[in-house]
Amino acid sequence: MSHPLLIIGLLCAVLAGIGRVKCAEFYTEKPAFMEPCQIYEPGFTNCSTRSVQKFMDNVIKGEIPEILETFGPIDPMKQDQLVFEQDNSDVTTISADITDLLISGFGKMMIKESKVSKKDFSWQTKIFLPRLRLDGQYKMVGRILLLKLSGAGKIYIEIDNLDILMHTKTHLYEKGGFTFYNVTSVKVQLNMTGVHSQLDNLFNGRSKEVERSTNQFFNDNWRDFFEALRPLVVQTVERTLQDLLGKLFHLIPANFFVSDIPTSLNLYGRKTQMIT
Ligand SMILES: *[C@@H]1O[C@H](CO)[C@@H](O)[C@H](O)[C@H]1NC(C)=O
Ligand SMILES: *[C@@H]1O[C@H](CO)[C@@H](O)[C@H](O)[C@H]1NC(C)=O
Ligand SMILES: *[C@@H]1O[C@H](CO)[C@@H](O)[C@H](O)[C@H]1NC(C)=O
Repeated sequence: MSHPLLIIGLLCAVLAGIGRVKCAEFYTEKPAFMEPCQIYEPGFTNCSTRSVQKFMDNVIKGEIPEILETFGPIDPMKQDQLVFEQDNSDVTTISADITDLLISGFGKMMIKESKVSKKDFSWQTKIFLPRLRLDGQYKMVGRILLLKLSGAGKIYIEIDNLDILMHTKTHLYEKGGFTFYNVTSVKVQLNMTGVHSQLDNLFNGRSKEVERSTNQFFNDNWRDFFEALRPLVVQTVERTLQDLLGKLFHLIPANFFVSDIPTSLNLYGRKTQMIT
């Protein structure tokens, strides 16, 4: 294996009653590619931005093998089924189901800013993706931009120059003498410069010509089209990031990112010690 030898800690607990042993795996030694920053020193946000970029570059390269096992490759990335209903506007009422979802583009993520709050250790992160592409199989009934649709088939949505503003809530806890982040919520806001999409078999194959002109219409009016699908894309990005960040931060101590992070006892005035 190409990555440096890391010492992995194991914290095990016998679950009361059922007698099953549950273990939490985590790093007890800092990987060489990680650069810790000091939040109580000036220049923290610059250091953190650089450090998170370097860390994510290594995660993308597969340098955290446990993530490959529990999450899978970052780019392209497989996700489960998405079920989606929207009925919040006059122009759009859709119920959709997307399976075999493949997400491409996170491999080129640029961290533009990584801020951490000294008050509650929540994060505000600006991420840029040159392109994000979702591929899958869809089933959909409803209306988009006043057009009545019903179809099933292949779909792709390609988003250019995606700016993601991510708000992450965390809760600190202690494990094996380190302080960890528990990522409790991820919310994102998205901006982009263009969206291109293609939905095959839009009218269950009744008219190829209408299907072609409808796709053309969606692409010509991509801003309105994207608004109709915004909740679907936001939900996909939030779920993906929460899953990835949750797994990463149960594995890697917060001390390796912020070397002077307070313990949960110091921050909250009581100790939160959990084994998951
Ligand atoms: C952070 O980086 C920016 C741009 O690279 C620079 O203008 C700014 O002076 C830096 N701030 C600190 C506190 O180092
Ligand atoms: C999106 O653009 C608006 C308006 O320009 C801006 O206020 C907002 O901060 C941007 N959000 C992101 C995530 O870039
Ligand atoms: C993390 O937070 C979730 C609730 O958001 C909770 O169920 C879980 O037990 C927490 N895990 C740890 C290790 O604190």
